[in-house]
Amino acid sequence: MSPLSASLSALIGQPVQNIDTPALVVDLDAMNRNLGRMAEFAKKHGLRWRPHAKLHKSVQLAKLQIAAGAVGICVQKTAEAEIMVAGGINNIYISNQVIAPGKLARVAALTQAVAPLSGQIAIAVDSIEGVSRLAQAMTEARTGGARNKTATVIDVFVEIDVGQGRCGVAPGEEAVALALEIRKHPALRFAGLQAYHGKAQHLRGVQERDEAIAEAVDAVLLTRHLMEAQGIKVALVTGTGTGTLVLEAASGVYGELQAGSFMFMDADYAQNERHPAQPKFEHALFVKTQVISTHADHAVCDAGHKSHAIDSGLPLVYAFDNQSVLDYFNGGDEHGILRPAAGSTRLPKLGDLLWLIPGHCDPTVNLHNVMIGVTDGLRHGTVQSIIRVDGRGAMT
Ligand SMILES: Cc1ncc(COP(=O)(O)O)c(C=O)c1O
Repeated sequence: MSPLSASLSALIGQPVQNIDTPALVVDLDAMNRNLGRMAEFAKKHGLRWRPHAKLHKSVQLAKLQIAAGAVGICVQKTAEAEIMVAGGINNIYISNQVIAPGKLARVAALTQAVAPLSGQIAIAVDSIEGVSRLAQAMTEARTGGARNKTATVIDVFVEIDVGQGRCGVAPGEEAVALALEIRKHPALRFAGLQAYHGKAQHLRGVQERDEAIAEAVDAVLLTRHLMEAQGIKVALVTGTGTGTLVLEAASGVYGELQAGSFMFMDADYAQNERHPAQPKFEHALFVKTQVISTHADHAVCDAGHKSHAIDSGLPLVYAFDNQSVLDYFNGGDEHGILRPAAGSTRLPKLGDLLWLIPGHCDPTVNLHNVMIGVTDGLRHGTVQSIIRVDGRGAMT
């Protein structure tokens, strides 16, 4: 890993005012409160907790989550898993389909890499072809090439489509057939079901989310019942995100929570009607930006959509004590246009520093090499650490 640049290292210990803009900043106090709330929630419900590291792509934060009680992490990509293993994380679930033989060879190599550390790699599948390709890669990794090969086993979750319409086989017989197929291969261990409902996460109303997850639970129950009738034990059902975790947790069916966004909480999630049982997660990720141009009816800041993702909407301008009420409009790659929000006439001054809450944290993080960790607040705080986005651009 290359050393941090001198200017980044020199920031540690300095006041937040000295962070150059635009910059991705983590309010570490808020993030740690979110982490504590999640750990407490999982403990209270007696559930395993495996946060999705696609959010932060950071070895440092993955270690923090494991120290707080997470059983390991989820990743979406083989390359993310490799980066995490290289950083010392050895319990990883690739909650996604991997099909290319070259990638599967890398996945199998990871099972070899974590075996001496008592680690475990897991993966999702949703096709017979995917199972046979995975089995082939695992067999080759066990027998081929270099010495010191171990007879490693990969945990395999059958993904069922519980309503998102993305990956996953239909709940029921198709999933049973996959589980039976997995059991034919000594290097594969059927570990349970992946039942993640991505679409339900951002349904705004509690009732809508409740109904969506009730259907997901029914789909899991049906599939589990059919599997058990064939003598297949479903050891674990894994899934859920920040938007619905209270519902899966209360279902008595899910055993593992994959939520990731709760660590940073984006502007989009803040629009969900809060379920009364939902832990109070706070915004902890911000883009610090500076006003570089002012006009009679608007101001311009130096953070555009190269600083934050816009797939889930434009960022919100954080209002300290509700004083500066501004709306953010798209100004292109490097600019944001600021206008007074309804009921306000105030515009910021040239040189003012502002904080944006990204619409969607995961792709925002992937735009940055580092996150700057701050304690004691965004106004008077101090830079405490530089958090590398180790998996930035790890797409394969
Ligand atoms: C398979 C899977 N699990 C869990 C998550 C985490 O969800 P969230 O970041 O909304 O908490 C995601 C997010 O897209 C996902 O794709």
